[in-house]
Amino acid sequence: EAAEKGGYPHFMLKEIYEQPEAFQRSLLGRVRAGQLYLSELEALQRSGALEKVRRMIIVACGTSYHAGLVGKYVIERWARLPVEVITAGEFRYADPLVGPDTLCVAVTQSGETADVLVSTRQAREQGAPVVAITNVVASAVTRLADAVLYIQAGPEICVVATKTFIATLAQLYLLGLFLGLQRGTLHPERAAEILQALEQLPAQIQRILDRAAAADDPIAPLARELAPLHSVMFIGRGVGYPTALEGALKLKEVSYIHAEGFPAGELKHGSIALLDPQTPLVAIATASHVYEKVVSNMQQVRARDARVIAVATEGDEAIREHADVVLYVPPTLEELSPVLAAIPLQLLAYHAAVARGCNVDQPRNLAKSVTVE
Ligand code: G6P
Repeated sequence: EAAEKGGYPHFMLKEIYEQPEAFQRSLLGRVRAGQLYLSELEALQRSGALEKVRRMIIVACGTSYHAGLVGKYVIERWARLPVEVITAGEFRYADPLVGPDTLCVAVTQSGETADVLVSTRQAREQGAPVVAITNVVASAVTRLADAVLYIQAGPEICVVATKTFIATLAQLYLLGLFLGLQRGTLHPERAAEILQALEQLPAQIQRILDRAAAADDPIAPLARELAPLHSVMFIGRGVGYPTALEGALKLKEVSYIHAEGFPAGELKHGSIALLDPQTPLVAIATASHVYEKVVSNMQQVRARDARVIAVATEGDEAIREHADVVLYVPPTLEELSPVLAAIPLQLLAYHAAVARGCNVDQPRNLAKSVTVE
């Protein structure tokens, strides 16, 4: 097993460090010189099924559900198609309004999550065309799908999803670009810019990881500070919101510290009551059209003596005035920022778990794939 870990103490850390390569692989064959090639969707397009599509549903669980929430934001923006993201355990009992005008996107790393399979079958029976996004070749979900986008991240051993999260995001970006171009809602020049920014992400992820391995990096010391605490809050807006959800999920799954993620605007509607010097707030404050709003939420929290940790864009020195600790990520397009912002949050969760002596690769009560209801 030590050999399989390739010198890393845990699979989780190994898989975090595999992310530049995993993301690169997830684009392989799909993006070349600023052009998109998504041959997997061509048959579906030729069948005429996509022309009938007026809305989209994304069904998923856990980390894949968070990826789906990012997908909603970008697909609505680029393809101007209304997208509903539903956790599969709810969808299957919701008597959903789904038909041939609804593209069902089933997102499941393992391809075997029971609730996702039942939901997908139900959507299919109601006439919806189905696209599956999965990491596992020939997994159960692929047999229910009209088209499959393999995330191509390589096997993930740690129960907690890391590289498959960002590689799933890659597929949702490609799907959004494909639909935007096909529907004429995304200018080809804009699509080329997005594709170029996507191609830069592996090197940018590498930069975050290289810095995290340096002696003066703030992530591991911060994780040791968080380790004795009982609760950590995460906020974000826009694509920062699902990033906050994913950051909270990582922390609770692997370190057992209670963590909650929510939209920054909801802070004052309840959760702010929980903040005190022992309950810090992690704010996703990367460059975006809602940056100022997130900063104003951070100010409200600091006025209540809670510690604030910001994930921000390199070059943003002003944020230091509003945060006790800043974790920087390289600049990218707002839509793509979750790919980079997720990395320090994964490392934070990892180091907090190590500091607390947790079983990092197999947290208690969790399974890699939930194949029963
Ligand atoms: C389990 C895993 C999570 C995962 C979720 C959905 O709960 O522990 O890491 O996100 O299932 O899995 P899927 O394979 O459908 O993406």
